[in-house]
Amino acid sequence: MLSAERRLLVLLVLVSLQAPPGHGACVEVDSDTEAVINDGFKLGCISCKMRGEVKAIATVEWYFKASDETEFSPLYEFKEKKGSIQDTLRFNGRLVWNGSKNTEDLQDGSLFILNVAYNDTGIYHCVFSRTLQYTNGFEHITNASKTVSLKVVPKRTRGMASILSEVMMYVTIIGLQFWLLVEMIYCYRKIAAAGEEALRESASRRNSRRFSVK
Ligand SMILES: *[C@@H]1O[C@H](CO)[C@@H](O)[C@H](O)[C@H]1NC(C)=O
Ligand SMILES: *[C@@H]1O[C@H](CO)[C@@H](O)[C@H](O)[C@H]1NC(C)=O
Ligand SMILES: *[C@@H]1O[C@H](CO)[C@@H](O)[C@H](O)[C@H]1NC(C)=O
Repeated sequence: MLSAERRLLVLLVLVSLQAPPGHGACVEVDSDTEAVINDGFKLGCISCKMRGEVKAIATVEWYFKASDETEFSPLYEFKEKKGSIQDTLRFNGRLVWNGSKNTEDLQDGSLFILNVAYNDTGIYHCVFSRTLQYTNGFEHITNASKTVSLKVVPKRTRGMASILSEVMMYVTIIGLQFWLLVEMIYCYRKIAAAGEEALRESASRRNSRRFSVK
């Protein structure tokens, strides 16, 4: 029982000591899909290299299909450290690169929409074209793509999952605090009882010695 608790405690300490993901750690997080009207919105698109140590050069192309359209059209392109808006009719001056900066070895191809309009509702498609450059001169091309289905809403709404996870967080924190408190009281009482026992024992030993001397 106690050893299981101790193991859990060690686990918790280890988890809390984990270093936060810094340079080199790439995680493919899914994009948000709900934009607020007149606000900014980040279209997320991350494609991690399978082998981080291999050098690569990547370009990213974004395509857009509005909700009343049947085909994708070019939206934005990022290559050789420069981005350019291709759909200047609808997005002129409203797209900002939010992906990897100062490198051609892109892993984050996210795009930021300024001043979101209802007409921005639709499907966004992001395509990574990556050339892996191995040290022996061998090159290998891989493509990856992500799709973001964007909805524009008048006000921010919170998903059920987000509310639930916040509640769970508080329940967990309070539960752990309570457990700690119970454990402390238990330990304190055990130590106090042991102390009393020792006192009583030494007192009775002294008494018995006094009796035996007589
Ligand atoms: C993305 O671009 C917007 C607009 O320039 C900026 O406000 C925001 O901080 C950027 N976010 C990241 C993560 O680069
Ligand atoms: C939205 O798109 C429709 C056609 O798709 C166009 O008639 C309308 O003017 C656009 N609205 C804005 C605010 O751009
Ligand atoms: C990768 O993408 C590029 C550019 O979009 C395309 O020309 C090429 O055919 C694609 N390669 C594969 C293997 O899909």
